[in-house]
Parts: sequence; C-alpha cells; structure tokens
Amino acid sequence: VRVAILVSGRGSNMAALIDAAAEPDFPAEIVAVISNRPNAGALAIAERAGIATAVVDHKAFPSREAFDAELDRALRGFAPDVVCLAGFMRILTDGFIAGWAGRMINIHPALLPSFKGLDTHARALEAGVKLHGCTVHVVTPEMDSGPIIAQAAVPVLDGDDEDTLAARVLAAEHRLYPRALRLWATGAARLADGRVITESAEA
Ligand code: GRF
Repeated sequence: VRVAILVSGRGSNMAALIDAAAEPDFPAEIVAVISNRPNAGALAIAERAGIATAVVDHKAFPSREAFDAELDRALRGFAPDVVCLAGFMRILTDGFIAGWAGRMINIHPALLPSFKGLDTHARALEAGVKLHGCTVHVVTPEMDSGPIIAQAAVPVLDGDDEDTLAARVLAAEHRLYPRALRLWATGAARLADGRVITESAEA
C-alpha cells in the first residue's frame, strides 16, 4: 500500500508514520510527503528519512480550486493508495476530497465529534471535560466529520494548561496514527454503510 502524507508544519505525526512504516512488517510504504508551506519542518525530516518531498505553496494560487488542482496533480504523480493528512492546515475543496473518497484519512486532536476545528485543547479545558484525546477518521467534505477509524483518550488533569494537555494528546497521536493506518491499509478497518467497521481489535 502506497501512502502519501500531506503536512503544513513540524511533522511529528508524519515522523511517527515514517518510523512505523520503516518496520519490516508494516503494511504500508510512505512514498511522498507534500507540504503547502515551503518552510515546514516536516520537509527536512522527510528528506532525512529518504522520502520524496514536494511543495505546493498555496500562496502561489489565486483560488482554493487552483491550489487543489495542483495538489491533486502532485499527489497523483506519486500514485498513492492512501493519503494521510498530518497537521495539514488547509481546507480542501469538495471536488478534491471527492477524488480521494475513501482513500484519505486525517488525525484530529480531540475525541470527535467533540471539538471539531481549531484550538481543541483550550476548548476542552474550557469545557471541563475529564477525558480528551485524538481521532483518526476518513476525510469527507464536512470538516472533522468523516467516519471514525480509531480514537485514543487521555485524562485531563487538574492543573493542566493548553501546553501540558497538548503534549499528552500529541504523544497519544503518535501511537494512534500508525495503528490506524495499519488497520486502514490492511483493510482490517473499512467503510460499511458510512461507518468504519474493524475486523479485529488490533491488526
Ligand atoms: C497535531 O496535533 C494534529 O492532530 C493537528 O495538528 C497537529 C500537527 O502536529 N491536526 P505535527 O505537525 O504532526 O507535529
């Protein structure tokens, strides 16, 4: 299974996927990392790991449609079976998403359907929830709303601030995303009637 990763920033989730895929028994190969930001830290990490990289700078395009068309062209050049969004901070057009329907997955730093969108950790603290976490889901046109593949919960502790909570969730993300990609890549987790069913608890 060929996997491309879309990133915008530091790339710690991307790095977790690259590390997992380096294991001989992992069912997927990371074939490319594409960033919409030329200076994303993720690019240097990917290059060091010997993975092909590309930049499609959103600032160079007059519209979301034009950017997405070029992103699509760049992606298809690597012929991925699965596309992983890992801290990719652009809203994608419905047309682009439709072209990758059922093949694009995302990690979101909250237990969906709670706290869609940005600033999830601040909003979790504000809400006073005692459990928070992260979700890997299939990407559909409605943001952060696609079928859930896997989730991991972490406690919210008294005295947490945004940074301590974010760090605890991020560590969980780094464990969850490789596990979810493994499930998705093997077909152990798959779409059925608009939800994800999982054949075995652990693949
Ligand atoms: C992660 O928390 C991810 O869930 C969110 O953005 C952050 C990206 O971090 N969408 P990194 O670039 O993977 O380090």
